[in-house]
Amino acid sequence: MNSPAAKARLKAAAYNQPKVGDAAVTFVVVGIVGGHTKLPALIKPMLDGGHIDQAAYDGWIGMANGMYNGKEQFQRDEAIRSASMAAMTLMYAAHGKGLVSGAMIGFDPAAVAAECKLAADEIPVMLIAVGNAAPGNWPRKVRRPVAEVLSFSAD
Ligand SMILES: Cc1cc2nc3c(=O)[nH]c(=O)nc-3n(C[C@H](O)[C@H](O)[C@H](O)COP(=O)(O)O)c2cc1C
Repeated sequence: MNSPAAKARLKAAAYNQPKVGDAAVTFVVVGIVGGHTKLPALIKPMLDGGHIDQAAYDGWIGMANGMYNGKEQFQRDEAIRSASMAAMTLMYAAHGKGLVSGAMIGFDPAAVAAECKLAADEIPVMLIAVGNAAPGNWPRKVRRPVAEVLSFSAD
């Protein structure tokens, strides 16, 4: 969202976090609950293009249905997992263009969903403010040592 009026409404839904109003643009990254039900249409071009055969097409759809049908928590986990990967990619893309970004989960999900007119199966996962670095921005915070956050199995 990047018009002044839309930004003001989104800022209110994000508990008035200043960066939503100050950033050039704030992206609302959305996840889809039950996204597996869209798989038949999504992979049809692969079937039509000869990249997979009918058996693989049917197999993939059957496997996705088996994994996700009736499992609402898992569907929601998947929506958040997939949207989080998209959000991080967006942040790297912004960085690649010399911009800065800020991830936010400090927002009222119902208010953001209403503002973005999200469908019932869509959930706002994260807000990503993107823009030029402003004077006074906090520098990057400390990072834990790699050895504390990454381990290798000896097996
Ligand atoms: C998932 C997630 C949600 C966050 N939500 C907020 C938020 O709502 N407001 C905020 O000021 N910072 C939030 N943060 C923290 C900042 O986005 C940022 O990661 C943190 O300040 C570290 O900054 P640095 O990467 O410059 O060191 C969030 C971070 C993450 C990973």
